[in-house]
Amino acid sequence: MSAQVQSARKTVKDIAAAKGGVPIVSLTAYTAPMAALLDEKCDLLLVGDSVGMVVHGLPTTVGVTLEMMILHGQAVMRGSKRAFVVVDMPFGSYEASLEQAFLNASRVMKETGCQAVKIEAGEYAADTVRFLVERGIPVMAHVGLRPQATNVDGGFKARGRTEKERNKVIAEAVAADEAGCFAMVIEGVAEDLAAQITKQVSCPTVGIGASATCDGQILVTDDLLGMFDWTPRFVRRYADLRSDIGKAVDGYAADVRARTFPGEKETYTLKKQP
Ligand code: KIV
Repeated sequence: MSAQVQSARKTVKDIAAAKGGVPIVSLTAYTAPMAALLDEKCDLLLVGDSVGMVVHGLPTTVGVTLEMMILHGQAVMRGSKRAFVVVDMPFGSYEASLEQAFLNASRVMKETGCQAVKIEAGEYAADTVRFLVERGIPVMAHVGLRPQATNVDGGFKARGRTEKERNKVIAEAVAADEAGCFAMVIEGVAEDLAAQITKQVSCPTVGIGASATCDGQILVTDDLLGMFDWTPRFVRRYADLRSDIGKAVDGYAADVRARTFPGEKETYTLKKQP
């Protein structure tokens, strides 16, 4: 028998153990080079279906396919060594039946080598979470603002702002927790709701637009790097790459037009003959 291969990656146990402790640091990643940059600094990398909007220019995440998620999941796994990697199940890949969910989620696990999948968990989805977990697939749930439900909800709006909706979000979170998810994203809810869910569920909560009361935070990396003109209110920009890229390309264009690029340093010459 060959020697046991030890993975240096964080495990589902490491993530679950972070409940109530040092906050979990997570970001989205879609490519190998970005995954390599984030790997040492993050506990968890999410190959989010936001890739559809951020990288492919789609208007919402509804058009994202399983093939896109697998391709980006493979790239992120190649680029990272240490972080726990979760791949989003896209709209239409897990809602029709438990069997559909298992077949597609197991494909994502096998073809990417990721450690878990994430599903947007309305209350109906608790059965899906249980079905997958019992069959060996760790599941992260996603409650509150659910981008895949944007057509029903009427846009990307904060959730749980009325008593009725608040109770619904709590019921969704509790159902997913009881069904065995190892962690859950809470998106776009008021602080007191995030705090109540975090207190009520046994798994760690990872907030995005859901206050510092969660057990961890996640942002879309391109938002924090300042790649877009507009970002939601809950984003803090730590860089202004959009403007840096604009300046860099202006410099390049000016040099090309002035024939000062390429210069001597960037130009091959004939090898000196002996
Ligand atoms: O798709 C995504 O990037 C996400 C995060 C915003 C949590 O689900």
